Amino acid sequence: MAESKENVLMEKIVSLCKRRGFIYQSSEIYGGINGFWDYGPLGAELKRNVKELWWNTMTRQRDDVVGLEATIIMSPQIWKASGHVDTFSDPMIDCKTCKGRFRADQTHEIPCPQKPSKMVSECHGEKTPPRAFNLMFQTYVGPVQDDSAIAYLRPETAQAIFAQFKNVLETSRQKVPFGIAQVGKAFRNEVTPRNFTFRSREFEQMELEFFIKPDEVVEAIAGRVASTAEIGNRKSEIGNPDWGWEAWHKYWVEQRIAFYEGIGLPRTTLVEYWQKPEELAHYARACVDILFTFPFGTQELEGIAARSDFDLSQHERFSGKPMGVFEEELRTAWNQLPKEKQDALWRRYYENRKKYLVKMGVAEETAARDATEDANGLAKGQYIPHVIEPSAGVDRLILALIANAYSEDQMPDEKGKPETRVVLKFHPRVAPIKVAVLPLLKNKPELVKKAQAVRDQLRPWMNVFYDDAGAIGRRYRRQDEAGTPFCITIDFDTLGEKPELQDTVTMRHRDDGKQERLAIGELLNWLLPKIR
Ligand code: GAP
Repeated sequence: MAESKENVLMEKIVSLCKRRGFIYQSSEIYGGINGFWDYGPLGAELKRNVKELWWNTMTRQRDDVVGLEATIIMSPQIWKASGHVDTFSDPMIDCKTCKGRFRADQTHEIPCPQKPSKMVSECHGEKTPPRAFNLMFQTYVGPVQDDSAIAYLRPETAQAIFAQFKNVLETSRQKVPFGIAQVGKAFRNEVTPRNFTFRSREFEQMELEFFIKPDEVVEAIAGRVASTAEIGNRKSEIGNPDWGWEAWHKYWVEQRIAFYEGIGLPRTTLVEYWQKPEELAHYARACVDILFTFPFGTQELEGIAARSDFDLSQHERFSGKPMGVFEEELRTAWNQLPKEKQDALWRRYYENRKKYLVKMGVAEETAARDATEDANGLAKGQYIPHVIEPSAGVDRLILALIANAYSEDQMPDEKGKPETRVVLKFHPRVAPIKVAVLPLLKNKPELVKKAQAVRDQLRPWMNVFYDDAGAIGRRYRRQDEAGTPFCITIDFDTLGEKPELQDTVTMRHRDDGKQERLAIGELLNWLLPKIR
């Protein structure tokens, strides 16, 4: 049977990734290990660029977000509090015939052992009833391997942010609303890793936890909560005091889509999927998935969840340490509110706190007592912040960028005969190599010397690749496949064969093959705005 166009494309991508050093199977010389992938020289650069762009956009370019780099192994109590120990599981079934293990909620397909990008049907043997299978990787800390030493590799980077919330708040001098960002490894023992790196067992996340005031606090201070229809996305409006959780949620969805556009994934390639109430995690008030159309289907790239005060509340209860904040502004505003307004806001805050506590299994009476105490805190300027969480996967984004950039077109070869070329049309910001410097001939010392001088001039500013091997057309094609947006050729005119062209170079554009002549002295200023 003929393979579908999508599968063929996926196979071409997987093969290009290996051939050009973007992504290899982990432990390949030992037959590989399912769900683990290594990034080769070009992949490592691409990944680094993506993470740096995210970090810059989310932290350095803003006054209201700071960074964190926490450990991968943390106290197992964190995963108790977050709910991962008890509920982070997939329903699984075993096949009694082939001994395979599969997710009960997915079609029974497994990656083909010969072509991991392709899914093949599993046998039709008798299956066991579904059982919960926890997705966290477990290990032991210290020399004794008993239950008291169990720890987990983090399944998300988010929880460390919640656990360190108070430390960051106190040391960074931030005030709510503000965010904490983290990039790092996460591990999930996925039952069926699939679709190349899309669902891996070891992957990286880029997560922001953006802490905001609960709506009752916004209303007490600003007198109202802005409707989402009123929310623009202009810089001057960011963080108006009347922004409640819906405004902040909408704002972050827009910000994240703008980020993807800025690195070469047009809005038309993305789908904004608003989860239906029945799809939401129990603590979430809303969640928008940003989906990308991969060759194997339209699937999640990032989730942007409004997580209420669930996480900080859980850590407060499990650690016994207060996670709330104090704001003089709230205390003052509260004391100036009319009694009926105070009562209405108190009641709403109380109801939300009580609902959460009861949901978490706290007895009705205790929940009512604790919720009363929490709501009484408002008058003293105290509350537990809510959170908006844009959570993106680095590896999925890399795959999306490669899939989006992959194209085949016709371009004349050196003799003018059209040939098919494979080109990765990366946005220059993410491209692993920004510019290739190519002396026309490698056996002409003057050309080589000049080319090396150009390389050395640009190198402190960007990733430059120097290549003097083979015909110039072949060298261009190699850079096209690597996704290098610009190639600089040093030829005899550069050396002054035509005096008016001395110290100029040919700048060749990857996407259309067009060439222009630029002075060496202006190269840096020409390149920098394009790659940043
Ligand atoms: N803290 C929230 C959280 O972890 P998630 O939807 O489970 O939410 C967030 O994960 C993002 O992490 C996903 O949108 C995806 O990009 C990435 N991700 C999750 N599981 C993954 C896996 N097995 N392989 C690759 N990326 C994954």
